[in-house]
Amino acid sequence: MYILLNMAMTADGKIATESRKVTSFGSPRDLAHLYELRATADAIFCGARTVEETGATLGNGGDEYTQIRLKQRLQAYPVRVVVSGEGSISSTIPLWNAHSSPIIVFTSGRASKANLERIRKLATEVWVSPGDEIDFPEALKWLATSYGVGRIVAEGGATLNDTLFRSHLIDELHVTICPYLAGGKNAPTLSEGKGWSRLGQATRLRLHQKSRRKGELYLVYRIQSNR
Ligand SMILES: NC(=O)c1ccc[n+]([C@@H]2O[C@H](COP(=O)([O-])OP(=O)(O)OC[C@H]3O[C@@H](n4cnc5c(N)ncnc54)[C@H](OP(=O)(O)O)[C@@H]3O)[C@@H](O)[C@H]2O)c1
Repeated sequence: MYILLNMAMTADGKIATESRKVTSFGSPRDLAHLYELRATADAIFCGARTVEETGATLGNGGDEYTQIRLKQRLQAYPVRVVVSGEGSISSTIPLWNAHSSPIIVFTSGRASKANLERIRKLATEVWVSPGDEIDFPEALKWLATSYGVGRIVAEGGATLNDTLFRSHLIDELHVTICPYLAGGKNAPTLSEGKGWSRLGQATRLRLHQKSRRKGELYLVYRIQSNR
């Protein structure tokens, strides 16, 4: 399994404004970058708040990208995986009405019976981790076996990113630094949650590629301390 994470952030590291009304700072070029990455992957992976707050349907970007995918012998549309440990994901988001590809929800023993029943009606399939925490390595093994997923583009948000980094599941990080300062003490940054207390424990990155397109910097890091 190879997982790359793609995020766009302001120069002060924010991935949304404090009000969460602005959820993207990237240019049309940055959006095309996202679609190009999706066009290399079997699946898209994101957290419940991200699909709720952005209204994203996690498609393939349109006909041009369908062609690219088919040439690479990928399914026309990526499988969509949403993580919702409590199963709290809203029933009224646009995602549920976009029927391009399977929608999988990863949840845990913390999900109430009512939430489980509700999301089972909405999603193609729900994978329930037995304990309170989602066992991501097991979930990903299941995804590989059941849906032939070998390469994933993860797309945030901050909470899910933290877990994926802490579990050493990210192989590559694409960051677009956008020419804005958002400020806001409570505006989410690229990775939230528990974090690390010592530098020695922090995820180590190696800068692999960099390019500048107009005001944006496109950085690709490989993760050094992994698995
Ligand atoms: N600029 C960008 O590139 C970018 C990209 C993505 C998102 N964003 C922004 O980031 C914000 C969302 O980030 P966020 O951190 O609030 O939310 P998030 O990570 O998208 O979703 C959080 C929710 O996902 C579930 N979840 C995440 N990690 C989990 C884990 N390890 N185990 C179990 N469940 C887990 C939980 O759902 P339950 O509550 O059901 O347990 C949790 O409440 C939005 O404002 C969005 O616009 C920006």
